[in-house]
Amino acid sequence: MKRSVRPLFSILLLVVFALTLSCRILLPRGDGVGFIGFEKPKLILQKKVPVFNSTLLKYSAIDIGEEQARHEIEELLEGNFDSRGRYRSFATWRRFNHHDVRARSSRGIPLMLRSPQFYRYWLDFRRALHDWARKKRYQPEIMDELIGLVKGPIDRHDGLVVSERRYGSCAVVGNSGILMQKEYGELIDRHEVVIRLNNARTETYERNVGVKTNISFVNSNILHLCGRRQGCFCHPYGANVPMVMYICQPAHFLDYTVCNSSHDAPLIVTDPRFDLLCARIVKYYSLKRFVEETGKSLDEWGSAHDGSMFHYSSGMQAVMLAVGICDKVSIFGFGKSALARHHYHTNQKAELKLHDYEAEYDLYHDLVNNPQAVPFITDKFKFPAAVIYQ
Ligand SMILES: *[C@@H]1O[C@H](CO)[C@@H](O)[C@H](O)[C@H]1NC(C)=O
Ligand SMILES: *[C@@H]1O[C@H](CO)[C@@H](O)[C@H](O)[C@H]1NC(C)=O
Ligand SMILES: *[C@@H]1O[C@H](CO)[C@@H](O)[C@H](O)[C@H]1NC(C)=O
Repeated sequence: MKRSVRPLFSILLLVVFALTLSCRILLPRGDGVGFIGFEKPKLILQKKVPVFNSTLLKYSAIDIGEEQARHEIEELLEGNFDSRGRYRSFATWRRFNHHDVRARSSRGIPLMLRSPQFYRYWLDFRRALHDWARKKRYQPEIMDELIGLVKGPIDRHDGLVVSERRYGSCAVVGNSGILMQKEYGELIDRHEVVIRLNNARTETYERNVGVKTNISFVNSNILHLCGRRQGCFCHPYGANVPMVMYICQPAHFLDYTVCNSSHDAPLIVTDPRFDLLCARIVKYYSLKRFVEETGKSLDEWGSAHDGSMFHYSSGMQAVMLAVGICDKVSIFGFGKSALARHHYHTNQKAELKLHDYEAEYDLYHDLVNNPQAVPFITDKFKFPAAVIYQ
């Protein structure tokens, strides 16, 4: 008994340790939480021709964490996992993150480390990470490719003819506690496609959040946690629900590689060009808000917003995904109120500092009222109608 308890304990310690160092967030579950005070859509008498402030555009394009990220990827591709103090090698990662820790030879050596499977994962991991890193560049036309990149594999999985058609209507369900103030469940389920965030559960909240899920949108922290479960079990909505995930740490390609091979439904990694586009858009709104609210210079934004850690929320990227693949987008469960919990399904108290929810709210506001004002999107992109339910 003792013998089996001790490794378990050290694994637990490692899990806690890895979590704190890992994807910038200790509690990665929440998203889609912004702030209150959505005005009623104003009548737009004259379509505003957007004039984007070139200084803001320029600042938004600077990625403070870029150099560090590139270094980290190089190290990972070299097999050096030590760059951020997690695992020394692929082998240690495998040992600590997988249930095959239990499968030991009589001498206590994990069997997995000697199997050909191990090398296959290693090669797949390198290929996936390499391709991803190579693709990362600014290319706003990516918005028009989302149908092929995300809806395509889902249609194929469902045995449908792959078409260029967008979904008729999509509900993006954020996780804000404000969901408990209304009973939107049925309304949400009436959308052709329902997108949920970071595995927030629906049981016992059906009247407020609905039951249907067509796309489970997560950040890679979530998969990293699931990666330790038997078969990478990560399906609170059922094993047949496709997942779309953005990579928040390159090392999470390890989890992706292992879990991708065990998942039946598609497990789609967001295109890095889409990630970059989302990052720029949110940064634009954040910079703008920062200057307007504080009167400080743009150069001070970095220290106020934890520069290299700054990141869009899962909710924001899920909304942008819906903007790319749906004809109508309804946004639920985004916002906060003094009377509501941060999340409807957890007791998390504080907002995460690395997100600027208020800036993201400015974006949603523009998506509803004046989508032409959203920066970095090409002129020919056709915005869907968007509505926010509060
Ligand atoms: C652009 O925005 C910056 C910061 O808000 C401001 O200082 C600058 O005057 C603006 N430039 C123009 C041309 O509006
Ligand atoms: C969405 O999910 C529901 C319930 O699982 C399913 O019946 C429906 O066919 C799905 N819609 C699409 C477009 O995949
Ligand atoms: C993930 O799995 C799918 C389906 O098995 C496969 O087509 C795809 O190539 C895999 N992706 C990677 C990067 O290995």
